[in-house]
Amino acid sequence: MSSDTGTAFAPAGDIGAVGRPPARGRLAGKVAVVTGGTRGLGLAMATVFLEEEASVICAARRSTTLTELAQAHGDRVSVETVDVCSAESVRSLMDRVMQRFGRVDILVSNAGVSRNGKIVDLGEREWREVLDTNLTGAFHCTKYVVPCMETAGGGRIINISAGMSSRVAPGAAAYSASKAALEMFTRASAVELAKKGILVNCIAPGFVNTGMYEPLRDDERLRSRYERMMVSGRPGEPWEVAAAAVFLASAEGSYVNGHVLEVNGGLLWS
Ligand SMILES: NC(=O)c1ccc[n+]([C@@H]2O[C@H](COP(=O)([O-])OP(=O)(O)OC[C@H]3O[C@@H](n4cnc5c(N)ncnc54)[C@H](OP(=O)(O)O)[C@@H]3O)[C@@H](O)[C@H]2O)c1
Repeated sequence: MSSDTGTAFAPAGDIGAVGRPPARGRLAGKVAVVTGGTRGLGLAMATVFLEEEASVICAARRSTTLTELAQAHGDRVSVETVDVCSAESVRSLMDRVMQRFGRVDILVSNAGVSRNGKIVDLGEREWREVLDTNLTGAFHCTKYVVPCMETAGGGRIINISAGMSSRVAPGAAAYSASKAALEMFTRASAVELAKKGILVNCIAPGFVNTGMYEPLRDDERLRSRYERMMVSGRPGEPWEVAAAAVFLASAEGSYVNGHVLEVNGGLLWS
């Protein structure tokens, strides 16, 4: 891309942080449910969706007021409690959303946890917690959002995976396995739901300057290990992942289905 286009893009050869492009109302009138939308990456995606004029339901186990978002976007933003590990909790969430908004156009299955530990040391409880949240949680959300999307005449589901789905690190077996399975679940969902007008894709972020990357970033030994993997020389900014989610959720993503989009600035394999 030439540097004289007058856009916010970086000149060729420079993949440093660039200014965030302005919102363009690309999700106007859409209703989006973002699980884990109360902090970290989920909150960043919820914020960008609101700026693109969607109504957004931020859903997580703990309730919070999200005062700034409510002040900026009024009743287009709503916070709901849900535990994605529980089918009943997810079904109840979708019921409440339907009562208030009457449809769901976009689901971002973003709620996730990571529990580190080598296989021989990892507790069964931690293993189950990761699989139940990252994989079974997405299954519950997909299963119960489909009728809401059929009411809307179609929809977009975006599952949030991770670069670790396809890269190996000691101590990350549960997290990596859960995300690799989530990517296959994405492809299976895309095949099954296409006839209903529902597109299903996945975003696999690398290291992003928020949420669960923060403790790694703040640990000098771990940070230097992970920084060596980053071809771009820096972690991603939350809005850079949110921008990919907007693309997949908007009219611009209408022919992308069953895809895993890596958003990582280039990430080495080890
Ligand atoms: N940050 C990164 O660098 C990075 C990189 C690659 C992939 N990711 C992925 O991005 C997603 C978000 O990560 P993050 O870094 O933003 O993490 P985070 O700051 O820890 O946020 C996780 C969110 O998920 C919610 N959550 C956790 N368990 C839940 C459950 N059972 N039911 C409902 N909500 C639940 C949390 O709220 P409550 O605790 O209140 O429930 C919180 O809102 C995850 O899927 C993660 O694997 C992140």
